[in-house]
Amino acid sequence: MPVTRGFGIVGAGVIATIHADAIAMLPDARLVAVTDVAAGAAAAFAAARGCPAEPDLGALLARHDVEVVCVCVPSGLHAAIAIQAAKAGKHLVVEKPIDVSLDAADRLIEAARAAGVALTVISQHRFDLGLIELRRLLDGGALGRLVLGEASTKWYRTQGYYDSAAWRGTWAMDGGSLMNQGVHYVDLLRWCMGPPTEVTAVYSTQAHRIEVEDTALAIVRFASGAVGTILSSTAAFPGFPQRLEITGTEGTVIVEDGRIVRRALATDADPASAAASAASAAADPAALDVASHAAQLADLLDAVDTGREPAVSGADGRAALQVVLAVYESSRTGRPVTLSS
Ligand SMILES: NC(=O)c1ccc[n+]([C@@H]2O[C@H](COP(=O)([O-])OP(=O)(O)OC[C@H]3O[C@@H](n4cnc5c(N)ncnc54)[C@H](O)[C@@H]3O)[C@@H](O)[C@H]2O)c1
Repeated sequence: MPVTRGFGIVGAGVIATIHADAIAMLPDARLVAVTDVAAGAAAAFAAARGCPAEPDLGALLARHDVEVVCVCVPSGLHAAIAIQAAKAGKHLVVEKPIDVSLDAADRLIEAARAAGVALTVISQHRFDLGLIELRRLLDGGALGRLVLGEASTKWYRTQGYYDSAAWRGTWAMDGGSLMNQGVHYVDLLRWCMGPPTEVTAVYSTQAHRIEVEDTALAIVRFASGAVGTILSSTAAFPGFPQRLEITGTEGTVIVEDGRIVRRALATDADPASAAASAASAAADPAALDVASHAAQLADLLDAVDTGREPAVSGADGRAALQVVLAVYESSRTGRPVTLSS
């Protein structure tokens, strides 16, 4: 019989519901408590989920039956909350991005290391079926030597979305389209292509009243010698599938919303193609497939049990953030930005 692990959720907003659903899917996990600075949000969430609402973070962390904490607060608070949880000896599931600054990311990674707790940064799309298959093809060398990698997030968010919470669309707490929405496929691009070494980028804010960018476009060099592009927008009406195209000397695989929609490999007699998924978060922030979050939480629990590093580590979260910040820096300076490894 597997040990049942108790989860606590901090921040009872949009993504917390996905975490609660994911926890409910796992036989060896149960939701023990939730907390939120908005007491009403925590109370409503707790009532819907049949668990207690704790009055504050300290009360949630004081519970011995909370072994894993899901950090579901605004992005600029991730490290501050997660560091307190690490110091209380809790394993950490931190929503993406890891935080909005490399300093904060480094403090969090160090706090988890010092406390000896496991840390995973959500990048649930690594657990989408199409990405698992693409990873398998890459590991087997099926695409040959990688040449080109393209990551595209052409989504649509209304002004109402940005107005729905004070933290959205701010540099201090959120970041723009790339930091919030595009970061998923930045992580996937890096995961497939290897580490980027140089970024040249432009961004703009045209369709929303926000201080951050709503559209960003970057050219990337990878350590392997391959090149690539990153595109992210929340101004692309009505919203399109997130897309990843990986091209090597032996073939190309195209993923849309986590599914392979085109695969053309030199070794394939009859390259298959599949239809793109219907439901997506292209225009609806809440339209997320809970199975991939559940798979990442299951991976964290297995990492805790076996003492290995989670599949998406704190260092992975930091690396994706580093690319996002390099895009912002290049856009502001008009110069290429070199990424240190
Ligand atoms: N993985 C994904 O696909 C995905 C999707 C959506 C959001 N997210 C991430 O999840 C995080 C939250 O986004 P959201 O859309 O759920 O936001 P939200 O505004 O809906 O919810 C955030 C909640 O945190 C609470 N909160 C704020 N400060 C707090 C504190 N100090 N302590 C406790 N609670 C606090 C707020 O009251 C609010 O209820 C963001 O980092 C975002 O990037 C990830």
